[in-house]
Amino acid sequence: MEITLESKVGQSIVVDHTVYHYFAGNNYLGFAGDHRLINSGVEALLKYGTNFSAARQTTGTADIHLELEKRLAAFKGKEQAMVFASGYMGNKMIMDFLKDRITVILLDAMAHSSIVDGIPRNIETVERYAHRNIADLERLLVKHKGERMLIATDGIFALTGEIAPLDEIHQLAKKYEALILVDDAHATGVLGETGKGTPEHFGLTDSPLFFQSETMSKALGSYGGFVAGSSEMIDAIRQTSAFYGASTSLPPATVAAGIAALDLIATTPHINKTLIERAVCFKKAIAEMGFETIQSPTPIMPLFFDSEREATGLSDFLARHKIIAPAVKYPVKLEQFMVRMTLSAAHTQDQINYLLETLNAWRKENGRN
Ligand SMILES: Cc1ncc(COP(=O)(O)O)c(C=O)c1O
Repeated sequence: MEITLESKVGQSIVVDHTVYHYFAGNNYLGFAGDHRLINSGVEALLKYGTNFSAARQTTGTADIHLELEKRLAAFKGKEQAMVFASGYMGNKMIMDFLKDRITVILLDAMAHSSIVDGIPRNIETVERYAHRNIADLERLLVKHKGERMLIATDGIFALTGEIAPLDEIHQLAKKYEALILVDDAHATGVLGETGKGTPEHFGLTDSPLFFQSETMSKALGSYGGFVAGSSEMIDAIRQTSAFYGASTSLPPATVAAGIAALDLIATTPHINKTLIERAVCFKKAIAEMGFETIQSPTPIMPLFFDSEREATGLSDFLARHKIIAPAVKYPVKLEQFMVRMTLSAAHTQDQINYLLETLNAWRKENGRN
């Protein structure tokens, strides 16, 4: 089913004048569409207008950019943070900062395209290790021992909801003196006791080996990328990144929504934990029904199928029952197809029960019970 939104994104959406339960997208904490973010955005629009109309390094820095960056740094427990117009660019900005310190990049085979696109031109050796495969990563670390290596991976993988084994990757990075880039686009606000992402999930928040690229566009319900870290790194990126220096600063409503999201995280500290508990229960229930899924503690809930016909068949069946959950192609295994469902803190238990009932009804109708 082709989806053209006619509403804001919440636990439900409107498509073609019809309300659908929305189990897609990346609105994990339910902040996109939350009235508190909307109200903050509206106030900022009224005060500052639609656009700051200049790059940060010229006249595009507003007081609210500085406030947001201060708040993000505090949220992450880092010296400084910087925001910019796209989470996609964060990996490039970090790797450009590191480029004179590294000669080899070792990539997870399923690393997001923003990591691949962001690899600096001067890096001659880029190798891929099998997806989440620690033995294969160690093989490459041994091969390049003595060289200056960066391991690059997603924290949570966007399609499957798997978590990168950062604890083991960290052990190896220490052993072979490598650095680690984590694209935590899907983990910010979601993983870790306080939502700091995948390193926090593994109790590694303070490790100096990690460089994290993050976004406000998913769980935080706003838009735009951010990097938090040492003053040395943030100052250097601000001074050298052409993307930062020569692109228009984040617009007022987006900045204000980002600040409001951090307020919400501070006032609802267990929101991510509750979300993950519900996702874990849901994944158990669908596995018991007989679906093939992955039991990772994240709100991305994949269902795997051997044929595209089955995956699109289920997605269409759900749409006929007013549920949106798209079929997508799983890029690693050619023969595997999936329906990617996501859970949001905004979903009601009734909606979740209805999704489970409808999945069960599909199984019955397709002779799988
Ligand atoms: C893993 C990952 N990294 C980076 C991005 C880019 O973030 P943004 O949409 O904020 O540009 C995305 C997604 O959209 C993503 O899934």
